[in-house]
Amino acid sequence: MIDESLAIIILAAGKGTRMRSGLPKVLHRVAGETMLGHVLHTADMLGTEKLVVVTAPDMPAVQEEVFNKAPRAHVAIQQSQRGTADAVLAAKECLEGFTGHVMVMYGDTPLVPPARVAELLKQLDEHALAIIGTEPPSPKGYGRLILNKKGDEVQAIVEQKDATPEQNAITICNSGLMAVRSDCLWDLLAMVGNKNASGEYYLTDLVTIARKEGLTCGVLHAPYAEVMGVNSQGELAQAEQLFQQQLRTKWMTEGVTMVAPETVFLSRDTELSPEVVIHPNVVFLQGVKVEKGAELKSFSHFESCHIGENAVVGPYARLRPGTVLEKGVHVGNFVEVKNSHIGTGSKVNHLSYIGDAELGRSVNIGAGTITCNYDGFAKYPTKIGDHVFIGSNSALVAPIQVGDAAIVGAGSTVVEDVPPDAMAVARSHQTTIPGKAREYRANKGSQKQRLS
Ligand code: UD1
Ligand code: CA
Repeated sequence: MIDESLAIIILAAGKGTRMRSGLPKVLHRVAGETMLGHVLHTADMLGTEKLVVVTAPDMPAVQEEVFNKAPRAHVAIQQSQRGTADAVLAAKECLEGFTGHVMVMYGDTPLVPPARVAELLKQLDEHALAIIGTEPPSPKGYGRLILNKKGDEVQAIVEQKDATPEQNAITICNSGLMAVRSDCLWDLLAMVGNKNASGEYYLTDLVTIARKEGLTCGVLHAPYAEVMGVNSQGELAQAEQLFQQQLRTKWMTEGVTMVAPETVFLSRDTELSPEVVIHPNVVFLQGVKVEKGAELKSFSHFESCHIGENAVVGPYARLRPGTVLEKGVHVGNFVEVKNSHIGTGSKVNHLSYIGDAELGRSVNIGAGTITCNYDGFAKYPTKIGDHVFIGSNSALVAPIQVGDAAIVGAGSTVVEDVPPDAMAVARSHQTTIPGKAREYRANKGSQKQRLS
């Protein structure tokens, strides 16, 4: 995307005290992905030569997230959280010998599109550093930008705590995204002090220091929805809302029908296809792919599953990890499917649990059928051939196989394999006694009279 070589430093060592949570702030999730995961994704799209994530010594979970999501990234430890400038300094060793552009991103600013970062980096052709400015609906907590008359250069960034009332009246704020040329970054950083209201080393002081050195700082304006920072649970929910809107719009543009888009919750990695119809109140957790023409009815919940072409799912269906529905499968109300493969045209329409199972083509599973896959110690598989018919309220005790075109009678508890084309009925025989009901009622009636 850019000509110069690029290093990205992601700051993620802050305690995030305003979140009031034991979970490190950058591990809170937006659309199923951690905020840090979002920023790593953006970094990946930009094609960086070096990627460094700065974290604190007491945050092993953040390091683990980096190893999982971006194995080639370096992790730098900021020993104590003395401010954003100090955090960037912690990355210095990892960038030893690097020349090019350095991009500083905050782990709590998850919605930044890669194209916007690329646009910012272009400003380094003219300026030593450049930042993204934005106008938040409420600027509380943001650093304010003091711009030149023309409005194309930043003269200073003043943190809210240090600002005069006049400066705090400024509505244009610092998004936190900063691009710096590597040849001046480290010298400028060395000059940052901590004489301010927080006693912290502010990265934002780089702007005034640079000006004193005769260098300039460019500014790029971006919509708040792209660069909002998350410091509290309320802002996390706001980021979720903004990102969900983006995801819904994207998929509707691709030809997905959403009857009530505001009630559909998607994950960052949800993959939909044209002509998919989504009814109100459907939730997609991570790892879901839906093929063309599938219809997903209300109150259904999906995670790590694949829904085939023209399948019909729900209302009230739950597809759990490892579920694959082939073309034209129907999964109806109050059906849970886990780690199972359901063949083309098969139907599981009412009140069933299908777990660790493989179903062939054109299978019909009657209402209330359960695969009993667990004995309290281990899980076992169920294999059902093509064209099998399982009668309602059957319990299939795994491990078990039902051969092609076999039939299981309703209410059966099946514990032995059923060969192809066989019919298995496993239920106790019915006893019918003529006139017995009348006799029973008469007895009960006279008993009741005696007691009252
Ligand atoms: C910061 C900016 C502010 C800007 C706002 C945008 C500074 C001094 N202020 O304020 O101008 O408007 O972001 O969202 O930079 N971090 C560390 N180590 C530290 C401190 C912070 O790694 O010692 C990390 C945090 O994990 C976070 C990021 O740096 O990801 C920003 O820190 P935070 O404390 O949230 O800064 P803000 O007060 O939001
Ligand atoms: Ca912040």
